[in-house]
Amino acid sequence: MEILLKDNVAKDGEYMTEPQAISVTAPAAEDLPKEKFDELEAFIDSMETTKGALIAILHKAQDIFGYLPRDVQLYIARKLGIPGAEVFGVVSFYSYFTTKPGGKHTLSVCMGTACFVRGADKVIERLKEKLNVESNETTEDGLFTLKDVRCIGACGLAPVVMVDDKVYGRVREEDVDDIIREYRSQEGQQ
Ligand code: FES
Repeated sequence: MEILLKDNVAKDGEYMTEPQAISVTAPAAEDLPKEKFDELEAFIDSMETTKGALIAILHKAQDIFGYLPRDVQLYIARKLGIPGAEVFGVVSFYSYFTTKPGGKHTLSVCMGTACFVRGADKVIERLKEKLNVESNETTEDGLFTLKDVRCIGACGLAPVVMVDDKVYGRVREEDVDDIIREYRSQEGQQ
């Protein structure tokens, strides 16, 4: 991907707060379509000022791309006229941001109080063991990303596991195998 940059020089050590006019001339080597950059650019350009807006922009970028690959981080840095290191620093500080593409399915285990006291810790441990990942990691086959999340508002069903938008309630440790099998069988896996 080539990023063309115009008029993006910070003066006197101050970062510019106006969105910068840049254009992405080709998609990156990875699967990063130009339309997604266009969407991100429109979001940034709609802001009156980008000062203090880096986190909001990163959230939007992660919504659009699903993750924050290096090219997207660099794009944001150039667009805002700030150092790439500043963007990388924020991305690596907040665990919410991820620089790796997620799995086909997001498997979220609620670790809110109601779920926790009803055994969510055992459920997530079992999932980690079965999938051979830690929280916020993706399985080797790219099928699942495991996440621990806060209360999702279904405490009456605690402990709760979500796969994408589907809610599984009163999940016991031993139910984990069936949930995984359900999605693997859709892929023709065992
Ligand atoms: S604590 Fe898990 S849904 Fe509320």
